[in-house]
Amino acid sequence: MTLYLDNAATTPVRPEVLEAMAPYLTRFFGNPSSHHEVGEAAASALDDARARVAAVLGMRAGDVIFTSGGTESNNAAIKGIVLGSGKRHLVTTGIEHESVIASADYLARLHGVEVTHAPVDGTGTLTPAALADALRDDTALVSVGYANNEVGTVQDAAALAAVARARGVPMHLDAVQAAGWLPLAGTGADALTVAGHKIGAPKGTGILAVRGRLPFEPLLHGGGQERGRRSGTPDVAGAVAVARALELAEAERSEGAARVSALRDAFIARVLTLVPGARLTGHPERRLPGTASFVFPGTNGETVLLELERRGVVSSSGSTTSLEPVADAVAAAVSTVGSRG
Ligand SMILES: Cc1ncc(COP(=O)(O)O)c(C=O)c1O
Repeated sequence: MTLYLDNAATTPVRPEVLEAMAPYLTRFFGNPSSHHEVGEAAASALDDARARVAAVLGMRAGDVIFTSGGTESNNAAIKGIVLGSGKRHLVTTGIEHESVIASADYLARLHGVEVTHAPVDGTGTLTPAALADALRDDTALVSVGYANNEVGTVQDAAALAAVARARGVPMHLDAVQAAGWLPLAGTGADALTVAGHKIGAPKGTGILAVRGRLPFEPLLHGGGQERGRRSGTPDVAGAVAVARALELAEAERSEGAARVSALRDAFIARVLTLVPGARLTGHPERRLPGTASFVFPGTNGETVLLELERRGVVSSSGSTTSLEPVADAVAAAVSTVGSRG
């Protein structure tokens, strides 16, 4: 059996999710735009999935757009809201996922949008004061990651959204890493990204929720599906899957976050004790339950990872309920790499 420690990269499809989506790949295969029995069965499943997602996000069903994943949702949110606003200034940070950074670059290159990368502090936190300094009268959007995909730092989304709202600026929250760990409702965000494959739905599924009143220029033009905000015949099975996965993630969130945070803290403490000079990166407390990130002076990450794999950490036999053996392997790997100079 493989010990898989890379759930921030992707997760396996959950059996409950597979079971929920399967009928929409086979028996109920209709096109939801078709006005007959087969199409209507698909349309009603899509409506149902939309309502379920909206309930978890604390938004309205009409706000929910089903997409192909986090990258598409981030592109659609940033380009769609900025271009729909008629304004030409975007605020984000320098520590966002590439899909945010590259969407901002695209707007700068081809649409003359000015991009401000608001500074984050040494823990990867964007403070409300730093955001306030970056806002201008012509700011179209703030786009910020709820939790960082590398160091795991969690932003105070509600405080940031309040700062943006006070200036009349909408905020987009990239919640790809946060889903399943942090509450997605009540953040105050006007737009929110979720990727299905990080929470037990298949790759190629995702959500973008955009509050209905926001002007939005779609990425995909065509038959006007998803209220004209994402044309193309919808992936009904994918929508059912991501809705089910999100509901399950939300139902298990509190218990899971508490359990995994305790494991993470024990793991961090052990690594810091065993590895001389090791430094924890990201915020010491406001971090994702499942993320631990370190700097080991005198080594580089790739070499440590290779050495860890050689020691069977990425694929070791047996299952584990504690990360102690992994912390021991990290210490051994760093010491081996370090002693090679
Ligand atoms: C914070 C964040 N945003 C966006 C993405 C992109 O999501 P996807 O892989 O579904 O395109 C990722 C993927 O790792 C991510 O971690």
